[in-house]
Amino acid sequence: MLVWEDDARSASTATHHTPPSSLRDARATDPSSPISSSPATQSAALFDAPPAAAHAVKPSAAAGTRRVNVADKRIINGQTDVNQLVPFKYKWAWEKYLATCANHWMPQEVNMSRDIATWKDPNGLSEDERRIIKRNLGFFVTADSLAANNIVLGTYRHITAPECRQFLLRQAFEEAIHTHAYQYIVESLGLDESEIFNAYNEVQSIRDKDEFLIPFIGAIMDPNFHTGTLENDRTLLKSLIVFACLMEGLFFYVGFTQILALGRQNKMTGAAEQYQYILRDESMHCNFGIDLINQIKLENPQLWTAEFKAEIKALFMKAVELEYRYAEDTMPRGVLGLNASMFKGYLRYIANRRATQIGLEELFPNEENPFPWMSEMIDLKKERNFFETRVIEYQSGGALSWD
Ligand SMILES: [Fe+2]
Ligand SMILES: [Fe+2]
Repeated sequence: MLVWEDDARSASTATHHTPPSSLRDARATDPSSPISSSPATQSAALFDAPPAAAHAVKPSAAAGTRRVNVADKRIINGQTDVNQLVPFKYKWAWEKYLATCANHWMPQEVNMSRDIATWKDPNGLSEDERRIIKRNLGFFVTADSLAANNIVLGTYRHITAPECRQFLLRQAFEEAIHTHAYQYIVESLGLDESEIFNAYNEVQSIRDKDEFLIPFIGAIMDPNFHTGTLENDRTLLKSLIVFACLMEGLFFYVGFTQILALGRQNKMTGAAEQYQYILRDESMHCNFGIDLINQIKLENPQLWTAEFKAEIKALFMKAVELEYRYAEDTMPRGVLGLNASMFKGYLRYIANRRATQIGLEELFPNEENPFPWMSEMIDLKKERNFFETRVIEYQSGGALSWD
């Protein structure tokens, strides 16, 4: 069996074992505290919503002049200044930020002319292949907007490590690029935009996946939600797990596999190349999320109880079931050498990986990967042009002269 490329990158490089952070900063609830309800607190909240961390950006001489001690940094409920990127504590986050920047790409760089000709040719694709493409875009055109909103309006303000925030900023932009890529494919092929963009309301198998996700996103987007209690810290951790392991790490994989299978048969190679770049980005997002989750566990071991683990396992099982139903809906018959039952094994295999990456036992022991070629797709090298369309190399051309 091939080892997934993301194995090497996903291992948490966390090295700092720290005692559990205090569950609530007394200053946040103490009415005598200068930050409890003062205008300074309100302005601090504009920068950094969690009350427990609000003093970190308070512009007063008392708190503002203290230099950041790297040992004090925390992923959640941190008390250090979120505006100071260095000194670094979580170097894995910074390294992943640099890696994502090195992978920069834009949808318009990919030549779609062959795809357009294939789509317009009545004999270019079978009905089942067309169904796969439309269902695929129907899910993804809104999924990455959901992902972007989750980061910007939810996750970001609860994370108190600036190097992790830096990655999240880059990730949010990549989600915008992904939405752009899907929109660009829809526009290039001349698909019915209202049909595709409304699929998440109108196609049951897509709606079910989104309805599974939305409560976890909604919980941390609530302006009244703040970390700092056991219950709320678990709510955030659960949301991070659902987002990284089940949305980006599982719900994307039937769709990615289908479009990349088309590309392997030399069909819709422009769309397949876009999906290949997106898969590489998502693999990085998923790995960052897993490192984040593992570091939060390390810093807050009190959150990781048997009861909590059982709750997470149940969510994994539900997600596998929903993604399998989506596979059945998108492939009522065998197509491209794929069929829904092959995806049952694949989804179990992926679920095992995600579970073990965050320290849970395998949910479906001994599942094999039926699509080992997918690991090659993740290991995309920019100089290797798999589908022989156009690629721009950013890393060598990025330097500007200001003379
Ligand atoms: Fe994305
Ligand atoms: Fe993502």
